[in-house]
Amino acid sequence: MTAVKVTLDQAMGTSLIMLYGLSCDARSEPSLLHDSVAAQAFEQVDYDFGPLRKKMPPKLIGPSIASRARHFDTWTTEFLAQHPEATVVNLGAGLDSRVWRVDPGPGVTWYDVDFPGVVDVRRKIFPSRDGYHLIPASVTDPDLFDGISGDRPTLVIAQGLTMYLEPADGHALFRRVTDHFTAGGVVALDTHNSWALPRQDKLVHRYFGARLHWAIDSPADLERENPALRCTDSVSGMVPLLDTSTPVRYKAFIRLALHVPKIRDAGLYVRYAFGPA
Ligand SMILES: C[S@@+](CC[C@H](N)C(=O)[O-])C[C@H]1O[C@@H](n2cnc3c(N)ncnc32)[C@H](O)[C@@H]1O
Repeated sequence: MTAVKVTLDQAMGTSLIMLYGLSCDARSEPSLLHDSVAAQAFEQVDYDFGPLRKKMPPKLIGPSIASRARHFDTWTTEFLAQHPEATVVNLGAGLDSRVWRVDPGPGVTWYDVDFPGVVDVRRKIFPSRDGYHLIPASVTDPDLFDGISGDRPTLVIAQGLTMYLEPADGHALFRRVTDHFTAGGVVALDTHNSWALPRQDKLVHRYFGARLHWAIDSPADLERENPALRCTDSVSGMVPLLDTSTPVRYKAFIRLALHVPKIRDAGLYVRYAFGPA
């Protein structure tokens, strides 16, 4: 296996945390996702994970990353069960291996979008597959969806993305989504609220020089800016962690934290419906 030297920094660098987390989960017993594609991709990456390992030991990072990925995998699978002929657009896909975990049927066209630097790494460490496309671009590019048909039900995933965008860019992106995909569909995203954003910003800035910009305090913030979005689900990101091997003392903290709204809502997993689908 040839090692792939990875020098991603700033927002792009944070995609390495996700791959590291998925590979920790794949190696742990029990594993939530058994993501062998992520584990193999991780093995190919030549990058010094030492500092991250110190800050985020496998026992903590594995369940945290894998429980979030599983949650969005489930929303993806649910959408594709209702719409076997569909489009999936995974914005800010980073080094996530969702398309192999979900393994969509032949009626699905799947696009993973990220900056060219990340897409370049993806091409080297992941296999290709039918119906699967990479788009090396910023999600803020106004022409991003030009090559994607808008006439099939569409799932737009933005896991771990919104916080990296300027609020105006984020709202413009979701307006472009609801304007372009006229057959309608679902937007699934996660958020950091104003309490969590500066704390997470410190972390990603320290390790990657990245900056976070967009705090979303309520799913209604997006509906106000874009009445085409209708929130159907909102779940604290802590809840799925209770159903993992995360350490008992951390679960005890979560049970208490769920009574404190600003901590409970620090990270939300949110689903919106739009259009007729
Ligand atoms: C924390 S990672 C999340 C990766 C993946 N979605 C996951 O959850 O595993 C954030 C990703 O968003 C990407 N990103 C941030 N801003 C972006 C933009 N304007 N256009 C495209 N990708 C962006 C970064 O390059 C990075 O891969």
